[in-house]
Amino acid sequence: MIDLHSHILPGIDDGARSLDIALEMAQQAVDCGISHMVCTPHIHKGYFDNSPSSIKPVFDKFVEAVTNASIPLTLSYAAEVRVNELIPVWFKQGELLFLGKHNNKQVLLLEMPHSHIPQGLDVLIKWLLRNNIQPLIAHPERNRELLAEPHKFTWLQRQGCLFQVTAGALTGRFGDNVEHFAVSLMQKKAFHVVASDTHDLVRRPNDMKEAFDVVAHFNPTYAKNVFIETPSAIVQTAPRQPE
Ligand SMILES: [Fe+2]
Repeated sequence: MIDLHSHILPGIDDGARSLDIALEMAQQAVDCGISHMVCTPHIHKGYFDNSPSSIKPVFDKFVEAVTNASIPLTLSYAAEVRVNELIPVWFKQGELLFLGKHNNKQVLLLEMPHSHIPQGLDVLIKWLLRNNIQPLIAHPERNRELLAEPHKFTWLQRQGCLFQVTAGALTGRFGDNVEHFAVSLMQKKAFHVVASDTHDLVRRPNDMKEAFDVVAHFNPTYAKNVFIETPSAIVQTAPRQPE
């Protein structure tokens, strides 16, 4: 499996707190059946002010540690970018990081606030698509406005977004409401990718194996599509470390 969303890089957001923990998370990912992971630290203005120049050295050091520990996991890096008005500016400055490509568009892992759908999101999405950037919305199933008014998911679909559901949402880690919403999206085959969004070993571990079983029980072809084929096609164009 390919894991497109993880907070495994140590010490630069609310994910792994140390290199040792990050290495254990890498092993946990391998134990789940993951062969390639994209490290996606938060870029969240005022909270986690990461940029390509802050992420790359941490990534390089982590790759070296994973290689030295002989953990069979290949890695690339991008970011989970919180919706904000500076995204077009960052793009022009070359400060945005992408997961890879989908239909020749660069894929941006875009995070909404957890509480609501931000005003002007439609304008941002149109701008992104016009600039050959494909927004992949992270964990829509945990957005409280979408949970309360699920018909708004259809509105987001019409804007041209892709969707990444978090593995733990399908296994009940975030409670019944989130699980029911995630399962309803699965039944409509409405998401494109499942990823771990792992932050640590215990509270937010890697749930990809269990989540794969949930989706495969529903439809093995769809499971293969959202855990392997689509994420694999996206990362094929991203920088990868040698096997
Ligand atoms: Fe995340």
